[in-house]
Order: sequence, then structure tokens, then C-alpha cells
Amino acid sequence: MTPPTPIRTQVAIVGAGPAGLMLSHLLSSAGIESVAVDLRSRREIEETQRAGILEQGSVDLLVETGVSDRVHRDGYRHGGIELAFGGASHRIDFEGLVGAAAQLYPQTDVFIDLADARARDGADVRFGVTDVGVGDLTSERPVLRFTDAEGVAHEVRADFLVGTDGSRSLCRREVPEQERTQYFREYPFAWFGILAEAPPSAPELIYNHSPRGFALISQRTETLQRMYFQCDPAADVGDWSDDRIWSELQARVGHNGHVLQEGPITSRTVLPFRSFVQEPMHHGRLVLAGDAAHTVPPTGAKGLNLALADVRVLAEELERAVAQRSTEPLATYSERALGRVWKAQHFSYWMTTMLHTLPEATPFDVRRQEGELASLTGSPSGSAYLAEGYTGWPGPR
Ligand code: DHB
Repeated sequence: MTPPTPIRTQVAIVGAGPAGLMLSHLLSSAGIESVAVDLRSRREIEETQRAGILEQGSVDLLVETGVSDRVHRDGYRHGGIELAFGGASHRIDFEGLVGAAAQLYPQTDVFIDLADARARDGADVRFGVTDVGVGDLTSERPVLRFTDAEGVAHEVRADFLVGTDGSRSLCRREVPEQERTQYFREYPFAWFGILAEAPPSAPELIYNHSPRGFALISQRTETLQRMYFQCDPAADVGDWSDDRIWSELQARVGHNGHVLQEGPITSRTVLPFRSFVQEPMHHGRLVLAGDAAHTVPPTGAKGLNLALADVRVLAEELERAVAQRSTEPLATYSERALGRVWKAQHFSYWMTTMLHTLPEATPFDVRRQEGELASLTGSPSGSAYLAEGYTGWPGPR
């Protein structure tokens, strides 16, 4: 067997989704070299439907670092959302409440912009690799091994290793059990997600609470819409015809006075719900960022935004770590990032439990939930927490 080809770099990144690529981009702007690998092909990542809402800080990061000018041109600024429940719909005015907005711009486009920017800058990013393994994490020279898409084995020696390899992270598992704490929460429901060829049904997103369950009416373009409805985690997409999906969605939003524009459904998937955090987000010379370290349920679209906030802090701390040849900044990164992670954990949990129907709910629970929604929509101070969390808390500290 031929020995693996050696590669020397400063930071080796496992996972070339938005978190890994943004980190690679930020490091390169600071004069730090990296190599990023991903098991998936570029095409596979581009074609996986993910969430579509960016916080203001995420938009600013993409624009200010030269990754995307398309985010303004092709995205849509949303100054608020509709919260529909109890037979009526209420607008939450983000701009009026906190002077900020959300941007409808799908994660797939964020990924395309980042992959293009990295290719333009001649970065070392390898998609479609196999046999990924990491080791020597507590030594001075951690290692990343992989076989590239052409079948050539490589061994990367780096100063630091970063796991941005998503919710099924391989890097996360390398942290010894006695050195980390894992926090979990499961939910007794999932989302059924669809793409439909139809015009938008409303100017902004509708978060809809109804006795039949939650529904979210989101958008993609003038001719393509994204919608979700609460379902059983064991739901089988094969059991759901277009007619059945439309009648379920119409019943849920109709309860609060909305009517949907229908059209052919071109994609259907069931999305699991989970809250998860692994602390700390470092071990030796390994750091974790994005979904590799934490998962949020999708309500409120915090996943990508949190991953971008992580790598923004991580790039700063890795810059210090490289300059000082020290691992101390990795602990600082973990502490700084976890502050925002737990705010987003609470926000996502809160949005989820406030808006979904819970199978075990008592009549008291149902009326209390309606009371919560009424107090939230009933005054500016009730709405301000939602507006601030949704558009994103002030930047990293
Ligand atoms: C989308 C997804 C979300 O989870 C959300 O809260 C808002 C929008 C989306 O895919 O468009």
C-alpha cells in the first residue's frame, strides 16, 4: 500500500458546509492557511433543503467579509412575521420593536456563495472524500486523515483541528466521555417540510398555531414556496398526497383566517426535532463549531445563524492561538460561544413549545399556551423578546 501523501497546514477543518467554509474564509482573511474536507459532494450539499432565514448579523457577516452581494439582491428583507392563533393573525413588527429585520435567503444559497468565494480565492477545499479520521488531538500536531475523491490517501498535520461536521459529527465523538457533558431534549413531534410551485400566500412568514397542530408558511421565490407542518416523527412521506397535504395545511391556517395559494408539491421530507449541546466545545487542539457542538429544533431558524456566530468568534480566537502557539484561546472560544448557544437553545425551545400542540397537553396546558401567545402579541414589551431573538442578539462578545 502506498503511504498517504503528507499535507502541512495551520488549521484542518472537518466539514465544508457553511460553518467550515465561513471559518476557512475568515482565517484566510487573517493570513491563516487551512484545508477543509467533506464527505458529501458539493452537489449533495447544494441540493439539501435547509432553513431560509438569516439574522441581521449573519447578513452583515456575509456582506462585510466579501462572501456575498447576492444576499441583498436575491434575498428578501422581512421587517416582521405573522403570529396566527385563536382565530386571528397578529403582526410582530421587528423594525418598529428593535430596529432590525430578518432576511429570507436559503442556506443552500449561503453555501453556494461560500463555496464560490473559497474557489475564487484558491482555497484547499475537498468535497466527496472518504475514510475521514482524526487523531493526536492532545499533541502539538493533531492529524486529519482522508482519501480524496480520486482515491488518493492524505495525512494532514495541522496546528489546530476544527470539527464543523454537523449533527452526526465524527469529531465530537473524539472528546473523551469524562471530559464533556452532553445536554439533550427530545420532542414528541417532527416537521413535514414541502416545496410547492406556487406564488407566496402572504408578504411575510406565518407562524400558525392551531388545534390541529403548528404550521409555518415560509417562502423561497415568487414562484416557489417552503412550508412545514407539525407531524408524527414516524410519518411516512409516501402516505401524503398533494391533496392530503393541502387540505391539512389549509385547515390549520384557515383556523386563523389565512388562505394558501396551492400548486404542485416538488419535495417532501420529515425533519426531526432535537435540542442538544456538548460542553465544552474544545478538547486538546480540537474545537467544535455549529451543529457538531449543538443542535436546535428548527422553529425560529437558529441553526445556521448560530453556526456563523460560532465561527466568527472561533476565527478571532484561532488567530490568537496561532500567534501565541497556545491552546488557551480555544477555551475562551468555547466560553464565549456558549453564551449565545444557550440563548438560542432557549429561544428555539420556547418558540417550539409555545407554538406546537403537545400530545400530552391537558386542557390547562392548552389555555395557558393561548394566554402566553396573547400576552406576547398584546403589548410591545411582550413582543420585543421575540423580535430581538428572531433578528439576532447583538454580536459576539
Ligand atoms: C424557515 C425555516 C424555519 O425553521 C423558520 O423558523 C423559518 C423559515 C425556512 O426554511 O424558510
